[in-house]
Amino acid sequence: MTFGVAVIGMGWMGRVHTQAYARVRHHYPDLPAPELIAVADDVPGRAASAARQFGFARSTLDWRELLDDPRIEAVSVTAPNFLHREIGAAVAASGRHLWIEKPVGLSAADARAITGPGQVTVGFNYRHAPAVARARALLADGAIGTVTHARFSFLSDYAASPDDALTWRFERERGGSGVLGDLGSHAVDLIRHLLGEIVSTSAASAILIPQRRRPLGVTSGHERGTGELGAVENEDWVGALLRLGSGARVSLEASRVATGSPNAYGFQIHGTAGALSWDFRRMGELRAGAATIPAGPFSVGPGDGEFGAFQPGAAIPMSYDDLKVVEASLFLRSIADGTPHGPTLADAIRAAEVLEAIADSASTGRNRFVVSN
Ligand SMILES: NC(=O)c1ccc[n+]([C@@H]2O[C@H](COP(=O)([O-])OP(=O)(O)OC[C@H]3O[C@@H](n4cnc5c(N)ncnc54)[C@H](O)[C@@H]3O)[C@@H](O)[C@H]2O)c1
Repeated sequence: MTFGVAVIGMGWMGRVHTQAYARVRHHYPDLPAPELIAVADDVPGRAASAARQFGFARSTLDWRELLDDPRIEAVSVTAPNFLHREIGAAVAASGRHLWIEKPVGLSAADARAITGPGQVTVGFNYRHAPAVARARALLADGAIGTVTHARFSFLSDYAASPDDALTWRFERERGGSGVLGDLGSHAVDLIRHLLGEIVSTSAASAILIPQRRRPLGVTSGHERGTGELGAVENEDWVGALLRLGSGARVSLEASRVATGSPNAYGFQIHGTAGALSWDFRRMGELRAGAATIPAGPFSVGPGDGEFGAFQPGAAIPMSYDDLKVVEASLFLRSIADGTPHGPTLADAIRAAEVLEAIADSASTGRNRFVVSN
């Protein structure tokens, strides 16, 4: 059985979603086979070139044209954040299934505006790392006792150079928040996934590089700016102290200007009977210190999360792109079963509510409760 898919926004994530569609049946042969029907990108030539490279049947500059194509049953939205609401809402209202990148719009209201009868899967991919799945299982088994406090840091250097271009990511209107929505959203999702709901926060944020040069012409991701100087409108760094529903205390730090620390994402979780820690850069290892688990790092393997769909033996490294193949499988399985698997729109809405509380606390200096509307 085949299943028609389209991709809107052919930058980094557009390519990663497309490659995940192409690979998903290699790892999950029981799922329907995605058929690449159409790709849209508003930069002239980008969608046409992707169609040639990946084998989409058609390409267009205008994503709205895809909504008239009856062959398309599911759509990936991998365009910049400011377009998530308009495109996501139109795709969902058309009855199609939606795989949409985080943070799902610029605000919780944007995420809430997406409604329809289809399934929605959100790009919170760090959940899918087998070591994270193992950590979740160990926590559920009480292997480290009751969690008392934890640290989640999502540090990167993608904007550490003042020469990095002032792209949509640095503008309020098109990016929304800065590193908070970009990397902080992943951290909030992982905290909720592993430790439960976040109820309140005290936070601080900073713009550490206040001006950058605009890109000349269109950009294809992160590149140097050579145009005129413009203001950075959203935060480069954020730190938040969170209180969870369980009573545990968690510190969250996210930075896009952490020089020398590319993609340094991870956590340390402390409980009454031990600790667990994970670093994305050594994705297949979990570190433990508890009476019931061997001390030090151990490698995950078949039986931990989705590892077995990729490799036959422990300690064979998986990749970032593999996490997106897992996510594609959860999306297709949700559609096949009519039951959500993986990160849902409700997760994106709740994450956005937490991000709004963090942003509000950072700007007012007050402790904030996370409010649902
Ligand atoms: N899950 C993750 O780990 C992860 C990683 C990176 C980015 N993201 C998210 O993915 C989204 C895209 O990020 P990216 O890094 O791929 O950005 P990008 O800038 O590389 O790509 C965005 C693409 O969208 C296209 N686009 C812009 N306006 C459009 C329009 N009107 N119609 C069609 N296409 C349009 C651009 O031309 C570009 O090709 C963002 O929401 C970002 O937060 C998620």
